[in-house]
Amino acid sequence: MAQLWGGRFTKETDALVYQFNQSLLFDRRLFEQDVRGSKAHVRMLAKQGILTAAERDRILMGLASIERDVESGALKAEGEYEDIHSFVEANLIERIGDAGKKLHTGRSRNDQVALDMRLYIRDEADAVKDLLKELLEAILSIMSGNTETYMPGFTHLQKAQPVTLAHHFGAYFEMFKRDLERVLSIRERMNICPLGSGALAGTTYPLDREYTAELLLFDRACENSMDGVSDRDYLIEFLGALSIIMMHLSRLSEEIIIWNSNEYRFVELDDTYATGSSIMPQKKNPDIAELIRGKTGRVYGASACLLVTMKGLPLAYDKDMQEDKELTFDAIDTTKGCIHLMGGMLKSAVFNRERMAESAGKGFANATDAADYLVRKGVPFRDAHGIIGRLVLLCIERNCSLDELPLADYRRECQAFEEDIYGAISLKACVERRMTKGAPGVMDEEIKRARAFLDQMM
Ligand code: ARG
Repeated sequence: MAQLWGGRFTKETDALVYQFNQSLLFDRRLFEQDVRGSKAHVRMLAKQGILTAAERDRILMGLASIERDVESGALKAEGEYEDIHSFVEANLIERIGDAGKKLHTGRSRNDQVALDMRLYIRDEADAVKDLLKELLEAILSIMSGNTETYMPGFTHLQKAQPVTLAHHFGAYFEMFKRDLERVLSIRERMNICPLGSGALAGTTYPLDREYTAELLLFDRACENSMDGVSDRDYLIEFLGALSIIMMHLSRLSEEIIIWNSNEYRFVELDDTYATGSSIMPQKKNPDIAELIRGKTGRVYGASACLLVTMKGLPLAYDKDMQEDKELTFDAIDTTKGCIHLMGGMLKSAVFNRERMAESAGKGFANATDAADYLVRKGVPFRDAHGIIGRLVLLCIERNCSLDELPLADYRRECQAFEEDIYGAISLKACVERRMTKGAPGVMDEEIKRARAFLDQMM
């Protein structure tokens, strides 16, 4: 077992204890970040005269050769190493000898792992941002092509008022836009370098922490070394942001599942995004949407798990924190996969405009508009509400829609009705009259704002 700390021990670690304690099997994901951090640390040590230039160059060369071999597959991050930090250091010493033993000067694995994880999350925040941008593009393209695709808007899953597909997806655009902004603000807040915090109390070497921070593209070094090694707030924030993204993806998935059902048929998923049944030949199931909905629980779990892990930890570092990794990695993989698949599913889906318009035309989604018509003719809204309510009842008895009700029946309820009632309650009129900011009648403006938002995103 290659461990970094044998000196004060007289017995070997129990094999089970070693297995329980090791983290290499999962923290090897941090290899690239670990080497990146070590290179910056070594450069800083040499600048401060703690290492010679020759030692620095030898270490940098050794690290680069390890990197090359891991990349090519000649060296595998596996075997009897406690963690990725031990793996890199042991291999370095094996390759370059004594100079390698100086790499860890003025550093602890506590600030090292805090750094690696921060670098990793920063990279992943950028990746999530890019994926969200792609998803927003897919949503915006649905919006742009469907400003006149009429459909029922729902409350309580009951038809409420006519909207358009552009308007419906516009709501998701806003949700994922907030998600993107949330990820950006977390990235900004977390961009602080813990390296140089040491085990918890800094170090006696004259480190230049700001220099290391700068080399690693952080905004600054952290203020307090105890906080530096024990802060996992940014991880909890990030998992929170992923949970909210999943919540949004899950709601959209749920709608796709409903819209794809035999009863609704608002959307036809592409064959490439659906699966069949082993027994029922007619089936085409929306498994991908269901899986996105299902995986949401996993990401919530990671978020709750880390909150609970952290709640009782005394300062500064405790080994409990090693538990932050697997669940975070899993939550990131899961969320990234789901964002990507949702984009693909949306891009390949075909929306059934006729079905949506037909559905919007039935179920009295235009009843509010009929009442608004009476208001425009001088009838107080509360009276108008009662009149239309009675007419809806009449339609239900006759199994017809408001558009199909003869004018005589309208006028029997209220003399204010005239021939123009039919134009006033057409789907087109219902949508076009809704001109308040954010309403379906002014989607062109909303689309313009959405386009501008994506254009100014780098
Ligand atoms: N594998 C550890 C972790 O993930 C690295 C830090 C270990 N530090 C220590 N003092 N044992 O947290």
